Amino acid sequence: MRKPLIAGNWKMYKTSDQAVKLTAGIKAALKGFEGVDVVLCPPFTVLSTVYNIISDIDIQLGAQDLYWEKEGAFTGEISPIMLKDCGCEFVISGHSERRKYFSETNEIINKKVKAALDVGLKPICCVGETLEEREAGKTIDVIKTQLTGCLAGFEIGDALNLIIAYEPVWAIGTGKNATAAQAQEVHKFIRTWIAENFSQGVANSLRILYGGSVKPANIKELMNEEDVDGALVGGASLEASSFVEIVKNSI
Ligand code: PGA
Repeated sequence: MRKPLIAGNWKMYKTSDQAVKLTAGIKAALKGFEGVDVVLCPPFTVLSTVYNIISDIDIQLGAQDLYWEKEGAFTGEISPIMLKDCGCEFVISGHSERRKYFSETNEIINKKVKAALDVGLKPICCVGETLEEREAGKTIDVIKTQLTGCLAGFEIGDALNLIIAYEPVWAIGTGKNATAAQAQEVHKFIRTWIAENFSQGVANSLRILYGGSVKPANIKELMNEEDVDGALVGGASLEASSFVEIVKNSI
């Protein structure tokens, strides 16, 4: 059985005081709660602050991005080792906002995912189609191209530490989530692709998260699908009450 994973992507929200309040609220509400891996992905500026609050409870830390070099003259960038140093275990890579606003390509995401794996971070690699692509019937082709590019050159050992998030671009921040059936169709395709390109064993254990307007009211239905193993939550992760409800409703 794959253990459910719920990750909160705070995006570019929360100053220190706000981050402390949100993290403390989540921590208090999830004390003693088991059965779900919970990951908080705050902005870089509060990674250590959040880590100090959750380090004595079973909630993990993730970053929202990374650069692929270990160190060097790359002004403004953050290396995988620096993320480990802040207490991160996970890192999001290839989010559609990075692809759209910062021109990240599958080749760049491939380097980032590889660099994360090399230092023992677990990458949450995001894929997803735009509305235009869905309406043109190209969803599966787009996902296949993204998987092929993002995971090029990987070995079975790499894939074992990988998490994939299916995030249809049209569902992100729009309040319009994919239906459970739409999510399942793509998740199933992803798992089959992993089985064909790595192994059935990897496919069986790999967690595939759904992301895009996940709320306390729709998480149960999504999680009922065989190949939906958790969620990457944006907007609803910014309030302790809604995030905690999503975590609790996911099992
Ligand atoms: P959303 O964002 O939950 O606000 O739609 C999801 C994401 O971007 O990961």
